[in-house]
Amino acid sequence: MTSVPIGDNLPSSMFFWPTPERPMVERGEGIYLWDQDGKRYIDGSSGPQTANIGHGNARVREAMVLQAEKVSYAFRSHFLNEPAELLAHEIADMTPDGLDQVFFGSGGSEVVEACVKLARQYALATGQATRYKVISRLPSYHGTTLGALSLTGDPGGFSMFSPMIVNQPKIPAPFCRYRPAGQTEDEAALGYANALEAEIIHQGAETILAFIMEPIGGAATAALTAPDVYYTRIREICDQYSVLLIFDEVMSGAGRSGKYLSAEHWGVTPDLVALAKGLASGYIPLGACVTSRKIISAVEDAGGFMHGHTYSASPIACAVGRAVLAEHVDNDLIGNAARMGALLKGRLEGLLDEFEFIGEIRGRGLLLGFDVIADRKTGRPLPPELDAHYHLAQEAYDRGLIIYSRRTMGGAKGDNFLVSPPLIVTEDQINEIMDILIQALRAFAPTARAAIKAN
Ligand SMILES: Cc1ncc(COP(=O)(O)O)c(C=O)c1O
Repeated sequence: MTSVPIGDNLPSSMFFWPTPERPMVERGEGIYLWDQDGKRYIDGSSGPQTANIGHGNARVREAMVLQAEKVSYAFRSHFLNEPAELLAHEIADMTPDGLDQVFFGSGGSEVVEACVKLARQYALATGQATRYKVISRLPSYHGTTLGALSLTGDPGGFSMFSPMIVNQPKIPAPFCRYRPAGQTEDEAALGYANALEAEIIHQGAETILAFIMEPIGGAATAALTAPDVYYTRIREICDQYSVLLIFDEVMSGAGRSGKYLSAEHWGVTPDLVALAKGLASGYIPLGACVTSRKIISAVEDAGGFMHGHTYSASPIACAVGRAVLAEHVDNDLIGNAARMGALLKGRLEGLLDEFEFIGEIRGRGLLLGFDVIADRKTGRPLPPELDAHYHLAQEAYDRGLIIYSRRTMGGAKGDNFLVSPPLIVTEDQINEIMDILIQALRAFAPTARAAIKAN
């Protein structure tokens, strides 16, 4: 073991995707993180929309210790365990009627793949062996394991893997704000939803297993939502063609949107749901695939779900999941996400007046975002070489505010930013976030304006 501080004297032995130079984190409390030099950061994105109950939570710490004192790990094939059984019941209670069966994994990509594998096994169990294709949206983000990448709609970003990935069909994500003149937003939304039907017919309905979508977009689309008609039409099309509807709520679920599942905003119940991130709020890796008794009964009758991982339903992870959920319930964090989200969204919408390069403010609850573009009418992006997604986030970071930024499809749909603080955020803290965000936008504005003028 080394006692030399990592840094100038000892280069890191870790490898990771390219990131700007970052300080060493020292501690976290509530919505704040501190680095080793004592600088404070507002975690205005909850990491990647994960630290939903904030940092340094005492109940979670105690639950972890208590469970570790009993048993940290016991393999699911060898033992049932109480935290996993109870957490599955609690998730079933939180989710809409009909979603009451839970498979636990360790993260988003894992449970997205669990949803797809379960869908396939259900098709086989019900005599629909020709169904194997999963339609997803472009752009979208469903994870980076090879299976999940076949669903993630970002061909440019992961092109080096394309020979190794099954090329699953894609339909356009519903960017209804940037629609042709004369079309209403609902007409645009219906057009996007009907693209699913057209793709099902084009591929051959008998080959389509499922459609997967993020009901509120995440990393790929900066909290993109569509008008209500989109969601009801999607459900209708899936029912008509017996295509399973998978909602990837890895980011939008577990209360972040102001409802436990964001599906509840539209009264649409999917057949399968993927949950992760906020489920254990970053305290431990945990994900869940949630579905109906009908699907599980068919799969069980055909021999059972042929899938699993070493850490599936780990006692300590599920004990943390229970403590995180208890925090939500006891402190009305989902209600707070709805209330503070409305306040924050209003404040973000106020930015549209000063910063013409912000396209639109998107999202629900505390899953909010905006795109940075060159033309608000058409959604034309800023030149990619400007690296707007990096520069603006860095201006905020330097000032002690972390926002999440990402560019999908080489920036063809703009540069995306998510403002998604922990669900414990207060009104004063929202003011603090907005003050720094405005400073960062003002610092970035001359660069954006010069690029727009030059193009
Ligand atoms: C909607 C969505 N699905 C899946 C994933 C993949 O999750 P993980 O990084 O835990 O594998 C993410 C991660 O950001 C996500 O936002």
